[in-house]
Amino acid sequence: MILVEDMLHEGNKVIDESRQGEPIMAPRPKSKNGRKLFLESYGCQMNFADSEIVVSILSKEGFETTRVLEEADVILLNTCSIRDNAEQKVRNRLVHFKNLKKNKPSMVVGVLGCMAERLRDQLLEEEHLVDMVVGPDAYRDLPNLIDEVWGGQKAVNVLLSREETYAEISPLRLDSNGVTAFVSIMRGCDNMCSFCVVPFTRGRERSRDPESIVAESRDLFERGYREVTLLGQNVDSYKWNLSSKGEVKDPEKETVNFAQLLEKVALVHPDLRVRFSTSHPKDMTDEVLHTIAKYENICNYVHLPVQSGNSEVLKRMNRGYTREWYLDRIAAIKRIIPDSTISTDIITGFCGETEEQHQDTLSLMEEVSYQMSYMFKYSERPRTLAERKFEDDVPEEVKSRRLDEVIAVHLRIAKNGTSSMLGRTFKVLVEGVSKKSDQHHYGRNSQNTIMIFPKGDTQKGQYVYVQAISNTSVTLIGEVVQTEEG
Ligand code: SAH
Ligand code: SF4
Ligand code: F3S
Repeated sequence: MILVEDMLHEGNKVIDESRQGEPIMAPRPKSKNGRKLFLESYGCQMNFADSEIVVSILSKEGFETTRVLEEADVILLNTCSIRDNAEQKVRNRLVHFKNLKKNKPSMVVGVLGCMAERLRDQLLEEEHLVDMVVGPDAYRDLPNLIDEVWGGQKAVNVLLSREETYAEISPLRLDSNGVTAFVSIMRGCDNMCSFCVVPFTRGRERSRDPESIVAESRDLFERGYREVTLLGQNVDSYKWNLSSKGEVKDPEKETVNFAQLLEKVALVHPDLRVRFSTSHPKDMTDEVLHTIAKYENICNYVHLPVQSGNSEVLKRMNRGYTREWYLDRIAAIKRIIPDSTISTDIITGFCGETEEQHQDTLSLMEEVSYQMSYMFKYSERPRTLAERKFEDDVPEEVKSRRLDEVIAVHLRIAKNGTSSMLGRTFKVLVEGVSKKSDQHHYGRNSQNTIMIFPKGDTQKGQYVYVQAISNTSVTLIGEVVQTEEG
């Protein structure tokens, strides 16, 4: 669907006076060659991976990326809707761009990603903030949509697809350290967690062809990359040639589940580290855990968002598991991959959460001993099950206080976990120069703990062995005891 608003033009002047406050457009059909693209991304890793697809599509059209906003011909914002404050941040940016456009009317401002999908033409029609709105499954249409805008119209394509995975598009790596890269393995989400906007903004779940995933990983390795992170909203439900019920679709073709995909990518090269995100507690199988344990290059780290430690709250969240089920999955991780770390996501103050239920989250955090937690206050999202069914009844100050308590427990547990690694030597992939000191390199161990160490003669992209000497809550400071070759 391309929804185009017709506008009347007289030279460079928009003559529809009813559209006061709207960015003035100066349509000039032009070639895209050498045109400058400024792209800013918000939200999750999947959005950043998508931005690399967008740049790939537009660079084929002749666009060059720029970091200088003022010289941009096209500004794109790849946006996130997960919480209200994520959207507010983007709105502030869009207001800034709108002001910038006053001095350069030919500049195209477009919003991509989840906010584009959620708000659709509202961003054009009511708020007059942008020229173009493009949802996450419509990026192949971007060159046409930009032409529409240059032709003097506004452009929208927010069609969601059941097939689009951008499988054969080779992402153009942005802000890359040349060592680690994201590889998208699926899109969308078929879960209906009651708090979550993602199923509405990203559409139905679909898996990408495993051949293209392996080919992209191999290509990255050959270009010097040493780590890939396989991305999906629920990687455990990755399936190729399998129906949602697990039946084989085409008996002539290979079937691949997530454990098998992990293995295929691990086999690209023993020096290519493999990570993945995000696992879902209701779907994570022992088969996946055994595959992690089997391959040294699949990292010993699982991000397993719990959201709440109380079974009733989990039920209202429609997460599909109980506290006991979750703890059983944690026990399986600890049993099958003994030297692993675990991280999580937590929401405080979900609809109807009592003080006792909040305490259950704190006790679960203690029980699991997370190495890292990403913690959020519940933010009601339009159209979600929770918005329709439950009252957002936990007062803001209670949500904040509970969040503070969760953060305090996290910091204490994480620091203990990091301290427990002191004295040990870890294999670390050198990722680059430390932000705090140009005399130090940083990298991560298999367990995903950041380690900082004096550069010496270590090189980016090399594996080195670092002994942990001291620590902050989530970082280890160490000394190189052996380089790869040594
Ligand atoms: N697919 C992942 C999560 C993606 S969103 C999973 O199922 O775990 C990342 C995190 O944002 C979620 O894990 C959740 O903790 C948080 N989040 C999602 N919706 C939210 C909301 N409405 N308010 C607050 N936090 C939310
Ligand atoms: Fe949202 Fe749940 Fe899907 Fe994660 S699994 S993206 S929280 S609906
Ligand atoms: Fe945000 Fe969309 Fe990701 S809502 S978290 S950018 S899938």
